[in-house]
Amino acid sequence: MYVCLCNPFTDKDVQNALSDASVKKSPAQIYKACSGGEQPCCGTCLCMIREMVGDAA
Ligand code: FES
Repeated sequence: MYVCLCNPFTDKDVQNALSDASVKKSPAQIYKACSGGEQPCCGTCLCMIREMVGDAA
């Protein structure tokens, strides 16, 4: 399932970033890891990313 459509990545990409020890577990860092370093555009996906980071904590 796509999480972000502006810089397309999926929930699997988020899970991979969450299990990558080299990625800090903040929504901003997870976004950066999944988007190839791009900044969020519309921000619609950030709520879901925050939830996924919170669930993984
Ligand atoms: S859907 Fe992720 S920044 Fe727009």
